[in-house]
Amino acid sequence: MSRKWIYASRHEGLASRQAHADFPAEGPYEREMSKEGFFGPAAFLHHKHPPTGWVNFEGDLRPRAFDLNLLNKAETSPWAAPRVLYNNSVDMRFWKLASPMTTLARNGDGDQLLFIHQGEGALYCDFGHLAYEAGDYIVLPRGTMWRLSPSAPTAVLMVEATNTHYTLPDKGLVGPHAIFDPAMFDVPAIDEAFKAQQADEDHEWVVEVKKRNAVSRITYPFNPLDAVGWHGELHPVRLNVRHIRPLMSHRYHLPPSAHTTFLSDRFVICTFAPRPFETDPGALKVPFFHNNDDFDEVLFYHAGDFFSRDNIDAGMMTFHPTGFTHGPHPKALKNMMTQSKPATDEYAVMIDTRDPLEIGEGASQVENIDYVNSWKGTQA
Ligand SMILES: [Fe+2]
Repeated sequence: MSRKWIYASRHEGLASRQAHADFPAEGPYEREMSKEGFFGPAAFLHHKHPPTGWVNFEGDLRPRAFDLNLLNKAETSPWAAPRVLYNNSVDMRFWKLASPMTTLARNGDGDQLLFIHQGEGALYCDFGHLAYEAGDYIVLPRGTMWRLSPSAPTAVLMVEATNTHYTLPDKGLVGPHAIFDPAMFDVPAIDEAFKAQQADEDHEWVVEVKKRNAVSRITYPFNPLDAVGWHGELHPVRLNVRHIRPLMSHRYHLPPSAHTTFLSDRFVICTFAPRPFETDPGALKVPFFHNNDDFDEVLFYHAGDFFSRDNIDAGMMTFHPTGFTHGPHPKALKNMMTQSKPATDEYAVMIDTRDPLEIGEGASQVENIDYVNSWKGTQA
């Protein structure tokens, strides 16, 4: 049932009429407080000081950063990869794979998304063969049997849609072919490489099935990736981030939700891809301060120069739980209204979850506990 929000639009004191633009000189720092991410009612407050200008932050509720590059142990099974963040509706792991998987994997808990951070190689699955490279999203429907055979050391951000599916967002006013055309999805093929791997059956094959987060092993005396064909609309897909053509407005800083790539029931996956900066003199040119009150927010930095964050490199992940206002780092804030470069140069994957996340053993091993202090020096 759609909600009837309690709603009366008001204007008090010094405030712009248009969000994210034309801020009053006396209150140059705009903070958005909103419901349901950026889809519900919102208020825009104009502050004298940046809301991230804290000098001390005590307690467990703090921005976190994890250097996943330091998770060095290569595992041949994805189910042995360290958990990073999770709750009842999502499970994120960071998996390094140096040699071909010797068993097949099958996720009984939910659709599995693989984001290839580094490496290249081949995916073999029930549906055939699909090459992979850095920047690929691969969505594997729940129940798919699969294995990866890297030709270069591979690092994967795994995101499971626990007990449910991945779907596409409604692209609304811009229509279904904007941002990326569904025709850009690549699908596994029953090709020569797939047929060649079917010949690998002079030994037993084990399928490691993950269900309710426990792994069962099913042994076959033959190679179970033995399909000779298939038809249907349920199958894995691959999309590379370089094929994403992000929405932008030269006069308005679009919210992160404009960059939504995949949806699940209780979280969204968005992709930040290179785009021009806003050029309107009054338009904000960095992410706006926002309370983030309903969604825990996770960013995985894949490649490039991360324009809103200082001291963040590729392979790192930040986690901003709900409950406090976040926004750009001091260096980025200096460019709030004027950018020196014409465009962003970054690829990042955002995972925003409607329910609070727990920190897994993988992340807690590689946390930068000083991250909360990285906003110090924000001009006051
Ligand atoms: Fe945010």
